[in-house]
Amino acid sequence: MIKAAVMGYGTIGSGVVEVLSRNRETIAKRAGDVIEVKYVLDLRDFKDDPIQKKIVHDYRMIADDPEIAIVVETMGGVEPAYTFVKAMLTAGKHVTTSNKALVAEKGAELIALARQKKVNFMFEASVGGGIPIIRPLNACLTGDVMEEITGIVNGTTNYMMTEMTEKGVDFDEVLKDAQNRGYAEKDPTADIEGYDAGRKIAILTSLVCGKQTDFEDVYTEGISHITAADIRYAKEMGRAIKLLATSRRVKTSYAVMVAPFLLPKTHPLYSVNGVFNAIFVRGNVSGDVMFYGSGAGKLPTAGAVVSDIVEMAKHIDKNIRVEWSPEKLALADYTCFKNRFFVRAKADKANAVEAFGGITAVEAEGIDGEIGFITEKMTEAEFEKRAALLPGIIQKIRVAD
Ligand code: HSE
Repeated sequence: MIKAAVMGYGTIGSGVVEVLSRNRETIAKRAGDVIEVKYVLDLRDFKDDPIQKKIVHDYRMIADDPEIAIVVETMGGVEPAYTFVKAMLTAGKHVTTSNKALVAEKGAELIALARQKKVNFMFEASVGGGIPIIRPLNACLTGDVMEEITGIVNGTTNYMMTEMTEKGVDFDEVLKDAQNRGYAEKDPTADIEGYDAGRKIAILTSLVCGKQTDFEDVYTEGISHITAADIRYAKEMGRAIKLLATSRRVKTSYAVMVAPFLLPKTHPLYSVNGVFNAIFVRGNVSGDVMFYGSGAGKLPTAGAVVSDIVEMAKHIDKNIRVEWSPEKLALADYTCFKNRFFVRAKADKANAVEAFGGITAVEAEGIDGEIGFITEKMTEAEFEKRAALLPGIIQKIRVAD
């Protein structure tokens, strides 16, 4: 029997306990041994719940118990999760986490510590919830040099964009709805301003380039400026607006950005709706590979954590090499990205032509007193230069091919 501990009995942590119990036998067969949760660390008590007999309040009880081989961290946030995880790895325990903030900031250091202690630090659930993406990148696509990773990696904003498209409602209304459904946090900033997606694409970029990608360096635009009028134009163009996180290889580095894009119906991510996530990967030998599924939610995310537990049980005396050094990756300048741009402006068409050259006009029913148009393909830098020549721009959204 392999003894495990879960730190944080919230949505994901309780999901992990549930999955380990519900699928106990099949998990035992795959892991080669039964996985038994001995401790659950939480600040709270859970009176009248059978879990109470496993509750501990001091992480050192877990770190100091030689019987514990695997620890799950589902607390969220960098501290105290970092201190606790470091103590577990130092004590020679395997650790899996669903915590993207911890992985994005401390991933390289914790991977190095795990290697030194001949254990594993795994984080399948930190990106894409229930979608397998970390292990495929670390195990199945290692023959490739990655040319591009582009994904819808935030379920909350994808739900909001889908609702705005289907119901024609405005941003504030759909945000309230997402909060009522428990998709958006009370403070929704991390989701709606794209920071959550920025952390996730930074983690994926670190994994494919083997160096530390700081999420603070990622150019990030959220969806809070997207309006019902933009959606009307998008429909007129037969397109959908999606918040994409994208990382593209530029020589020996990557250019990384998070921003809303207008996708055509032929785009592989066009039909990813609601809280679903999808990640598209392009390798230089495998070509295009797509991953689709539940990007969040109790059981899908817990399933990803449990897959790490099984992997660690299968390699209980062995560190599985992960290439992610603390050396910082100097990101390529995102302004080299080339796109067409959809622009709305309180301006004359003649002025728009003067500023941008060839443009394609777009009209949307019921929207007057402004012009809408799509530019030719140009770099971000060139767009900014040309946009400065046209006063009255009220919106710009990148247009994907
Ligand atoms: N807030 C995140 C999302 C949760 O909406 O995708 C999963 O990381």
